[in-house]
Amino acid sequence: MKATARAHPNIALVKYWGKRDELLFLPFQGSLSMTLGGLSATTTVEFGDGREDAAQLDGRWLEGAELARICRALDRVRERAGIRARARVASQNDFPKAAGLASSAAGGAALAAAASWAAGLAPAPRELSILARQSSGSACRSVEGGFCEWSAGEAKDGSDSFAVQVAGPSHWPELRMVVLVCAGEAKEVSSRDGMRHCVETSVYYRAWVECARQDLEAARKALLARDFAALGAVAERNAWRMHASAMGADPPVVYLRPATLAVIQEVAALRAGGVPAYFTLDAGPNPVVLCREADAHRVEERLSAVPGVQRSVLAAPGGGVERLERHLF
Ligand code: PMV
Repeated sequence: MKATARAHPNIALVKYWGKRDELLFLPFQGSLSMTLGGLSATTTVEFGDGREDAAQLDGRWLEGAELARICRALDRVRERAGIRARARVASQNDFPKAAGLASSAAGGAALAAAASWAAGLAPAPRELSILARQSSGSACRSVEGGFCEWSAGEAKDGSDSFAVQVAGPSHWPELRMVVLVCAGEAKEVSSRDGMRHCVETSVYYRAWVECARQDLEAARKALLARDFAALGAVAERNAWRMHASAMGADPPVVYLRPATLAVIQEVAALRAGGVPAYFTLDAGPNPVVLCREADAHRVEERLSAVPGVQRSVLAAPGGGVERLERHLF
């Protein structure tokens, strides 16, 4: 009744932004991401005879809302497996929180897999994606590697809302993403609160959904054709549109900082100088820049020198969730 899983974070090229169902984590529109190799979350789950679920993240015991989230994920697995045993969970990220990457996607996918396997289940990727989705929407795109598309689906119960691999890591191995950390752990509006607020109040929310649907078609096509300029352009305009919808909320939500804009300007300057590079931006101040392997070090060096940039992380397309024989406890 013990299993360990490792999963990687992902960065969306076409963003998920807004839920049509808050409880089941069902989005209004589809999204497309790249899974990042080299960075991972590892999670061990053991079902035993304890009286309550207990969970540790990077050595810290979780309580309150953080623990309740884990318990709900365990409950979904217990229900499927028909078991009642409580669990001990430990999770470890090999990238610091200050790396500017949310760990919720990798952590959610690793937890769904480790808990399922520990409970004796062998879910297909699609079922695992549905389970991971309910921990954190973006986690459903970290079950498989390479490039994954999360279809919004139409079913009320969420049974058709999961991510599938559009292309594996070897489809475009020379693609790189550079994360530019402009603010390590500054408190922001969480993606969960930010997107809910946009759905409820943004005058641009409806336009966002419409544009995102078109962007998704264009991005998938560019990805499959390995058309770097087209993929980069759609990723940039999609990020701008997501942030425009946030700025159109009442009160507005602004994730950009001065250093964020300075990086975005430098990306444009790089491009004007003949280096193809494009940015995207999640619900935070840290841009992620898409470039090619041959330019990656130059891009990272140039952008790291922008005032306000604290550090950078370089990643290539990575794989999906894997089972490890080595447990965390
Ligand atoms: O699933 P969450 O709560 O981590 O939300 C992710 C939202 C964005 O990062 C802004 C976009 C995305 O698709 O990852």
